[in-house]
Amino acid sequence: MGGQNLAGPGGGLPPIPTWLTERAGVDYPVIGAPMFKITYEELAAAVSEAGGLGCLATTNYPTQESLDEALERVRRLTRRPVGANLHLSEKFPWRESLRACLRQEVKIIITSLGNPARVVEEVHAKGGTVLACVINLRQARTAAQAGVDGLIAVGSGAGGHGGHISTMVLVPYLARETGLPVIAAGGVATGSQLAAALALGACGAVVGTRLIASTEAVASPAYKRAVLEASPEDIVCTDRVTGNPANWIASSIQGVERPLAADSPAWKDLWSAGQSVAQTREIKGAKNIVEEIVEEYYRVVARLPGLDRAREGAGQPASTGEARG
Ligand SMILES: Cc1cc2nc3c(=O)[nH]c(=O)nc-3n(C[C@H](O)[C@H](O)[C@H](O)COP(=O)(O)O)c2cc1C
Repeated sequence: MGGQNLAGPGGGLPPIPTWLTERAGVDYPVIGAPMFKITYEELAAAVSEAGGLGCLATTNYPTQESLDEALERVRRLTRRPVGANLHLSEKFPWRESLRACLRQEVKIIITSLGNPARVVEEVHAKGGTVLACVINLRQARTAAQAGVDGLIAVGSGAGGHGGHISTMVLVPYLARETGLPVIAAGGVATGSQLAAALALGACGAVVGTRLIASTEAVASPAYKRAVLEASPEDIVCTDRVTGNPANWIASSIQGVERPLAADSPAWKDLWSAGQSVAQTREIKGAKNIVEEIVEEYYRVVARLPGLDRAREGAGQPASTGEARG
């Protein structure tokens, strides 16, 4: 979904330019996570209005009509770019969803759980960008061979499906091995964590868990409260619920023994969240959350130890990134 890159979101702070912001046409390298049963039009639009990239989860719209309506509605809520996520398993009608997204000019397509080779040609033909969620090098290589434009490195401790390699290690590893732009997912809820992700070489970060505790998230009050109250020790990784390893608030999945159907009513009481519950302590509007992340990013980067020396050594502002080398 295209849109103008108007000046002035993020509390008026300057843009943070990266490969992702250039590609997506946004100001800040923050993707509002597409989340099953959580991210709908209001949340995606609010993230985009803050200067990040809101992203719809197409799995939340089981019929063609409901997805078409959602895409139209999000366009009424924001003129800024909004992306969409396709779950490439046969549990969902992703082919029809892809066509609907492309008809509505969604330019950033995030793929998960399946080989992105199925969508790359169609998205590129429309001038779009494909970002593939991957949890290890094998998946990253498959995605690279498929011709994706960038990778989302989903680290251990991420909300939703995740692997077992920490974001800290996975981001630079996949960047080095594939040469593709990499976006960090898993454990980014604050500006300091965004700064850490960019320092690792990521060109952006996906924020999921922090946004469950947003006013726009379609999570029950009990789920939001559980996210606020949980500590990282309460998060367990298991494939029991969906058939793939995913992170959950332990108390919510007690008694679940086998994977649930996508349309099971039980989902509403099964609460996925990542370890960044540790940094999720208050419910706020999503725009506010993104603005806070950007503000903290600037504060943290400005006070990094040794910054003055790095500037002197390089003979230019450290913020260009060249002082690091
Ligand atoms: C409740 C929940 C549902 C999710 N559903 C999806 C989904 O449908 N598709 C997807 O690509 N990622 C999904 N994710 C993963 C997020 O897109 C993102 O990668 C992750 O939340 C980032 O890590 P964090 O939670 O530590 O911020 C989900 C995450 C959560 C917490």
